[in-house]
Amino acid sequence: MKDIENNDDLYRLVDEFYKKLLSDSSISYIFTDVVKLNLEEHLPILVTFWSQSLFNTGGYFNNLTQIHLDISKKEYLTPELFKIWLYHFNTTVNELFTGSNAEKIKTQALNIATVLEIKTRQEKK
Ligand code: HEM
Repeated sequence: MKDIENNDDLYRLVDEFYKKLLSDSSISYIFTDVVKLNLEEHLPILVTFWSQSLFNTGGYFNNLTQIHLDISKKEYLTPELFKIWLYHFNTTVNELFTGSNAEKIKTQALNIATVLEIKTRQEKK
């Protein structure tokens, strides 16, 4: 197994990750019912996001927190949903890649998930 080295690797990662999210009914409804996601448009945005985060390539300008707060206003993003999200993310990384970038992306996902979970909880009150 190789490490995550470029945007093609990231595309493979997010593609497999979303297959897992969408086949798990405990979280898939967020992506199909709460937000009606167009995967063809969404996956390249995710690649840009992770490419900036991992390789400092830049190019991601959206407000990630606000986007998730908006979703959470429609349907509260529970701590349990973040747990499920992270579980599928880590599983996908572990199935496909090994190395320092694979470790880095899992740490970054955990850090961001922790912040998003706290902010959605604060907003709920
Ligand atoms: C409970 C967990 C989560 C759920 C259910 C969730 C759901 C979603 C949904 C439905 C969208 C599409 C929003 C739209 O296009 O209107 C989205 C976008 C996105 N999410 Fe999440 N998300 C979760 C956690 C995370 C975490 C932890 C990260 C990063 C580590 C993340 C990264 C992103 C990115 C980069 C986008 C694209 C935003 C954009 O269009 O600029 N998400 N998420």
